[in-house]
Amino acid sequence: MFTRTCLVCHSVANEGAKLGPPLDGSAHRGTEGLLRAIVTPSAAVESGYRLLLVETVVGEHLDGFLASQDEHAIVLRRPQREDLRVERGSIASLAFDTVSVMPLFAYLTSLR
Ligand code: HEC
Repeated sequence: MFTRTCLVCHSVANEGAKLGPPLDGSAHRGTEGLLRAIVTPSAAVESGYRLLLVETVVGEHLDGFLASQDEHAIVLRRPQREDLRVERGSIASLAFDTVSVMPLFAYLTSLR
């Protein structure tokens, strides 16, 4: 379950993905600290972990994490896909999503 659900974004011992912070050393955070990080993930969202929403001049909607950028292009990092390079000239608008992508509570709060 952990491999399928969590390692698509996190890594442990260099296995997994780099969308979220590595979870090595989680034991040191204690149950309470871990629960807080999972229950209110947005409390600790750093800009590198916020979803960047991109609209292109041809009307495409893209999203991902800002992996890198230079004066010519930005690079979006996405779960289970290759990084995507987007030329600045093709970008109509850029905005950071304010909501964490941590999936557990997003899912639970979507249940009615
Ligand atoms: C879609 C990507 C994604 C998935 C899937 C995901 N996480 Fe996360 N997780 C993140 C991001 C991004 C952060 C950092 C920002 C935040 O806290 O929202 C994070 C933060 C965390 C933190 C806090 C880490 C810290 O150093 O503060 C823990 C603990 C955590 N995740 C555990 C899990 C577990 C356990 C699972 C599987 C049930 C999981 N995550 C699935 C993206 C993900």
